[in-house]
Amino acid sequence: MPIVEPGPLVARALSEGRAVVGANVSTIQMVRGVVRAAEQTGRPLLVQFNRSGLTLIGGVDLAARVVRQAAEDSEAEVGLHLDHADTLDELSAAINAGFGSVMIDGSTLAFDQHLTLAREAKGLVQWSRLPLEAELGHVAGDEAGVTIGDASWTDPEQAVRFVAETGVDWLAVAVGNTHGGPPLGGLQIDRLHAIRDRVPIPLVLHGASGLTADELGVAVESGVAKINVGTSLHQAAAKGLTEALERHPGSLRSALLESERAVESEARRLLTSPWALG
Ligand code: 13P
Ligand code: ZN
Repeated sequence: MPIVEPGPLVARALSEGRAVVGANVSTIQMVRGVVRAAEQTGRPLLVQFNRSGLTLIGGVDLAARVVRQAAEDSEAEVGLHLDHADTLDELSAAINAGFGSVMIDGSTLAFDQHLTLAREAKGLVQWSRLPLEAELGHVAGDEAGVTIGDASWTDPEQAVRFVAETGVDWLAVAVGNTHGGPPLGGLQIDRLHAIRDRVPIPLVLHGASGLTADELGVAVESGVAKINVGTSLHQAAAKGLTEALERHPGSLRSALLESERAVESEARRLLTSPWALG
């Protein structure tokens, strides 16, 4: 089916107490794997690229074409999201290419600079009415292509002000979650509740690869409507490739296919979680 808009998917997830899986990918094989998993499970999915994923696949235009084609070739509900951009130029390029939602990541900036950047980003996306995600507090850890600093947790009162003054549509929170690893000191559910009770927009949880099924379930019960996962999909791709090449050295074609199937299986595991939007 034609590519779908991410906004209504995330809104539906919030109203149903579920979350959309935001799957970070970097290659055509990964796109094909996650889209096939969405088709098999009948569950919607956002395909997401950050800067490093875009570099690997060959840029925003190619990324958009690949995802659009994969969606059209399947029965899955698939949207396309730009993850962790930190300049307005990146947002413009993605919007022009056909991305359906974008993230501006000013999470390592001082609060006032962050407000300014997020307001400018909102001004940029407003004409197209695409949802804008921003991150308040900072999710630390290790993510290729993403500016990483020291972890800082989302302050619920500051979140109210940030959302009111910028008009961002989705808010990524830092509540212990970490890119590429387990939460630092555990997931802070009380903090998540305090944010949820004050902030009237969908919350996004980054760093899902390091969270247990129980933690993800509790996070979604606590107002998270989009769950970002990247590391576990990339690890699955790498494992599939490595194992196939060990068995049949030099056979790239079968190794790429095996890698694609490994991504499909990992995406299926996530999409069949009880919290995943149906
Ligand atoms: P993980 O790589 O830890 O799954 O986090 C992905 C992410 O937050 C993408 O924005
Ligand atoms: Zn992230």
